[in-house]
Amino acid sequence: MEQSTHDARRLIVVSNRLPVRVTHEEGKLRIRQGAGGLVTALAPVLRDRGGLWVGWPGATGPGLNAVCRQFSKDAGYLLRPVELDDADVAGFYQGFSNEIVWPLFHEFMLPCNFLPTYWEAYRRANAKFSAAVAAAGRPDDFIWVHDYHLMLMAKQLKEMGKSFRVGFFLHIPFPPADIFLRLPWRRQVVDALLEFDLVGFQTLKDRVNFAESVRRLYPGSRRKGRGQVVSVSSRGRQTRIGGFPISIDFQSFVRDAARQEAVAAARKLREAFGNRFVLFGADRLDYSKGIPERLNAFAHLLESSPELHGKVCLIQVTVPSREEVPMYRDMLAQVERLVSGINGRFATPGWTPVNYIYRNLPREELITYYMAADMCLVTSLGDGMNLVAKEYVACNAALTGTLCLSEFAGAAMEFHRHAAMINPFDVEGVARAIREAMDTPAAVRRRHMRALRDILRRFDVFQWVDSFLMAAFSKRLGDFPTKDG
Ligand code: G6P
Repeated sequence: MEQSTHDARRLIVVSNRLPVRVTHEEGKLRIRQGAGGLVTALAPVLRDRGGLWVGWPGATGPGLNAVCRQFSKDAGYLLRPVELDDADVAGFYQGFSNEIVWPLFHEFMLPCNFLPTYWEAYRRANAKFSAAVAAAGRPDDFIWVHDYHLMLMAKQLKEMGKSFRVGFFLHIPFPPADIFLRLPWRRQVVDALLEFDLVGFQTLKDRVNFAESVRRLYPGSRRKGRGQVVSVSSRGRQTRIGGFPISIDFQSFVRDAARQEAVAAARKLREAFGNRFVLFGADRLDYSKGIPERLNAFAHLLESSPELHGKVCLIQVTVPSREEVPMYRDMLAQVERLVSGINGRFATPGWTPVNYIYRNLPREELITYYMAADMCLVTSLGDGMNLVAKEYVACNAALTGTLCLSEFAGAAMEFHRHAAMINPFDVEGVARAIREAMDTPAAVRRRHMRALRDILRRFDVFQWVDSFLMAAFSKRLGDFPTKDG
């Protein structure tokens, strides 16, 4: 076992959003810790190494630096806000990131809006993040850049004369070469990614897709090594690329789901649904999540199985997201139409087939739904990983639930043997998977859920951080095992 994660280098984490929520309240700026697994996993590492998190605070105003300083004191690591102006938000965040990279990388061509001004805004905003790192970084810091908003940073840092070691992790899928190569700025993006020392992907499939795009752009490029981390060499430069499936803080979900209040709330929720089979979905309102497809499959189930009327219901939690981007606004209307269509057609007194919730749920409430649901529906049309699938499994200590999982979610790579695997475009197949789960004996459900939990227990978000950092600090290729081997 290597000692590489114990390397004393300071860590600078960079992501588009800082791990906090900054809001205006009663004329003052307020700052709160953001939710999510990434901050849970990275905060202790940052604290240990005396690190720094660079990112966009989302809101701005006088006093921003002061609230960030206060937060830094309490959190034990520094926050360095990057302020984006309205043009950055429109061109870099809403434009290039969410109207080009997001749809393209999830293999949706139609929403892609390849405006050259978006590319300019992307470069400009990436340069702001790079400048913040260049100003704050010391020569032997390790810089860990996250996600598709910031793919140009390693190259820009070098152009600024900085020779940090820089790693990158892509949280979303990397598409097949035939899709990626439609990007007008494909060469600039690939060149920039190759400037990182290590590029991490969610799955080996993403890594293979990236290597294929490199090969198509640079036929002379070569691949070296085997296993989790390999290297590609192109034009005299070697870049290590690897698959690092992200995870969740499994034990914290286990703990929260074991709390008395949680158990009581889940029991109450179950009572409200009686003996009905409860299906559950929770997603940001995003076209990649397959929410309309899921609703269509549910409608198909009710249409094709009248004997199930009154016996099954779907709770759909949909979290508002990226409301300024046109595709997202259109989706809201589409989803609401589908929900009311199903309820209008099938509801009877005392039975509402779809319980639709459109708001951000606090973690405790979400956990209650996970605990109460008989089946969690993850129907992504494309998804880097899908942490809802993992959270559902972590909360199912009772071993009564079934995970219905899209084969197009990154989580499928780890979970496919023990989840009900579906093609989300196939309404009959999804309806069949639900019917089968309703008929599955409890012992079989228990066996599969136990196996899923065993996988998660071993591969949690802390293991993910360790294996990425180990790979980043090491020079070797191959596999990077977990703490316990
Ligand atoms: C995905 C991306 C994240 C992003 C999140 C929320 O999970 O991989 O980088 O932060 O969506 O989207 P938003 O646009 O609100 O940051």
